Amino acid sequence: MFPLGKGEYSRQAHVALPEGTFEDEHGREGFYGRVSHLYHTHPPTGWTRIEGPLKPRAINCLTLPGAEVLRKDDPFGEAVTFLFNSDLALKAVRPAGPMPYYMRNADGDDVYFIHKGAGNLETDYGPLNYERGDYLVIPRGTTYRFTPASNEPDQFYLLIESFSEIKIPVKERGMLGVGAQYDMGVVETPSPEPAEAGDLAGSKTGPQGEPEWEVRIKREGEYTSVFYPFNPLDVVGWKGDLCPIKLNIRDYRPVMSHRVHLPPSVHTTFLANNFVICSFVPRPFEADPEAMRVPFFHRNIDYDEVLFYHDGNFFSRHGIDAGMVTWHPQGIHHGPHPKAIGAVKNKVETDEYAVMLDTRYPLHLTEAGKAAEWPEYHMSWSL
Ligand SMILES: [Fe+2]
Repeated sequence: MFPLGKGEYSRQAHVALPEGTFEDEHGREGFYGRVSHLYHTHPPTGWTRIEGPLKPRAINCLTLPGAEVLRKDDPFGEAVTFLFNSDLALKAVRPAGPMPYYMRNADGDDVYFIHKGAGNLETDYGPLNYERGDYLVIPRGTTYRFTPASNEPDQFYLLIESFSEIKIPVKERGMLGVGAQYDMGVVETPSPEPAEAGDLAGSKTGPQGEPEWEVRIKREGEYTSVFYPFNPLDVVGWKGDLCPIKLNIRDYRPVMSHRVHLPPSVHTTFLANNFVICSFVPRPFEADPEAMRVPFFHRNIDYDEVLFYHDGNFFSRHGIDAGMVTWHPQGIHHGPHPKAIGAVKNKVETDEYAVMLDTRYPLHLTEAGKAAEWPEYHMSWSL
């Protein structure tokens, strides 16, 4: 019986749409569940105004309010939360210097995406150097400390705090094989360093110049400081399958089809309970002249969608620059801007790097997020 087809429609989704129509995907469970494609005679984003709280939103993370200073001696600073729900919190980190303490998050896994800057991350497991475009996945309970490179004053990290364990989709790749998206061989892991290496490891004093080392543990959002008379990062070896990892977005190899536009779920990079993290990287456009080359309209009824724009030319989003976030809540349409539909005709590949999150449950914007909002974003489809 299914799929049914009524009136004018395309037998193959995203290909050879009926003349003059706009395809709208009405689907369940992200891109995994039951779905119908509706062929409209007008773009579903062609509204004249929206009254009420549900609308596409955009936040310029570079203009978020400064962190509340909890400690005068902390140039690393507090992360500023701008979107959250009970599964995750999205935060901006703008360090002006190294952490004068070690950090341990007992609330969740920390995924840092290095939008700008570079430096060294010390962990229980050993150090990892980081640079622009790196994902640093730090399991809950790891003790760590960031030392941003002093010759790169412009540092900006996106922090995704996940209240469930971050996992790598290896089995989920199924028929694609283990080399798809990224081979585990390109994932870097830390090794313990000899005691004399690192700026603090062999030092007789801690980060604050005192003969003690502080570990700040975050539990239920509150900090507890534990002090040691020795450097607690004194591990000389480790074994197991849990450790911090590093993956650069440049090493992400997207899955694509030259004949049909694939949904963003094919770009899933990390999995957590009730949300996924995806990477958008440059890829060729669909070559088949009948295949859609821009994302279809949809109302993403079961997932909120968040995109952090890292680098490149964000062809499908008019008015969006690097460092901005778009948030498309469940239930209201989004899709390509009218200018994007024309612009892709002369392009052969996308030129954008972005981090996307799909969250099963609705997100909430904080007061800090509201202060950095572009309030007219929901009207940008009519520009
Ligand atoms: Fe979408």
